[in-house]
Amino acid sequence: MTDVVAEPETSAPGPESKPAAVPLLRTEGLRVHFPITEGIVFQRQIGAVRAVDGVSLDVQRGETLGLVGESGCGKSTFARAVIRLVEPTDGRIEFDGVDVTALKGDALRKMRRRMQMIFQDPYASLNPRMTIGSMLAEPLRVHRIASGRAATRRAQQLIEIVGLPRNALNRYPHEFSGGQRQRAGIARALAVQPEFIAADEAVSALDVSIQAQIINLLAELQAEFQLTYLFIAHDLSVVRHISDRIAVMYLGEVVELSPSRELYDRPLHPYTCALVSAVPIPDPKVEKTRKRMILRGDVPSPANPPSGCRFHTRCWLRRELGDPERCAAETPELRVMRPGHRVACHFAEELAGERRGALLADAAAHSDARDVSEDELIAPADVAPVPEPEDLRKDVIQH
Ligand SMILES: Nc1ncnc2c1ncn2[C@@H]1O[C@H](COP(=O)(O)OP(=O)(O)OP(=O)(O)O)[C@@H](O)[C@H]1O
Ligand code: SF4
Ligand SMILES: [Mg+2]
Repeated sequence: MTDVVAEPETSAPGPESKPAAVPLLRTEGLRVHFPITEGIVFQRQIGAVRAVDGVSLDVQRGETLGLVGESGCGKSTFARAVIRLVEPTDGRIEFDGVDVTALKGDALRKMRRRMQMIFQDPYASLNPRMTIGSMLAEPLRVHRIASGRAATRRAQQLIEIVGLPRNALNRYPHEFSGGQRQRAGIARALAVQPEFIAADEAVSALDVSIQAQIINLLAELQAEFQLTYLFIAHDLSVVRHISDRIAVMYLGEVVELSPSRELYDRPLHPYTCALVSAVPIPDPKVEKTRKRMILRGDVPSPANPPSGCRFHTRCWLRRELGDPERCAAETPELRVMRPGHRVACHFAEELAGERRGALLADAAAHSDARDVSEDELIAPADVAPVPEPEDLRKDVIQH
């Protein structure tokens, strides 16, 4: 498998005031393979799940990089490897210009203080036997930031910052709603004053209106504390509002990387086109005319990925082009198609050129002609759209 070697991003839309010199986070050819073993007494490796397979990405300081893709494509494993919760099999991770791939002991503990994670299910990640106050004081003590009354004062500040009621310190996670628990999870991540936060499906389990509140809160915190986010979700409609750029993963690889708006308006990888076509449009009139593109076939196993382009077994563009051999024979490079916009497809020019409209219409017509079950959709059809940014701003955080 060819490593995806990222060229320096010259046009990535980071915050204007920050030079794009050294990215806060950079991965180069990152691989995480989980061994598949056989035997009870004498275990031997018979294969590997290639959860992350040669991912090179950078995240600029103050930027939000969205990461999307179907279930099992390696999003969480990538995030966990980056913050060193799972060991990389190969490749390099740099944080603030320093190779952190092999850090251990005290050096790893110090680095972890700068990188935090927010999880999908805050209830599972919060200790049910600890009050919110003790839960917030713990990382302060572990990282020797504050103890005793100073820690209590800091915990009080944190719950105010994330919009929890003042009496939350003495309460337990089960006493809160899902949205409030996610606020507590965010407060815990903020406790150690990190620079980088990986939010792994942080809003996926919440109701749409609560999702908007939490996204709004994350955006406010980013501005206030100059945070850098890796924001992971299945659902493009959630990711696009908060992300400056979006990376699309398929079977352990990045297949498209682009400024958020451009990815949504003019995706150039056939897989991304299908993802985008599944995003509901808030305007009911336009929504009625939306042509959903259905991907045929199951997602192949990451233990035995298809040859050449991993997407070739499900690719509608390949079919439209008469099944060119190159798709199954040669791994496409993640190459620059426009400034800041990279695509891993041998035939991306087809979707960048004049034939785009005709190809998309033909593919959608073929998809819609089939009687499909909801399970076949790559994003649930009933996902309500996340409010547009103006609505998000109007959405007052509940204190
Ligand atoms: N500890 C592990 N041991 C073995 N295989 C694993 C382990 N963790 C993840 N995997 C496998 O690695 C692949 C990628 O999983 P991962 O959880 O990273 O995907 P994901 O994109 O986050 O999916 P989802 O959207 O469902 O959260 C999957 O095939 C998964 O089964
Ligand atoms: S390289 Fe071929 S199979 Fe892969 S995305 Fe492009 S057209 Fe589809
Ligand atoms: Mg995941």
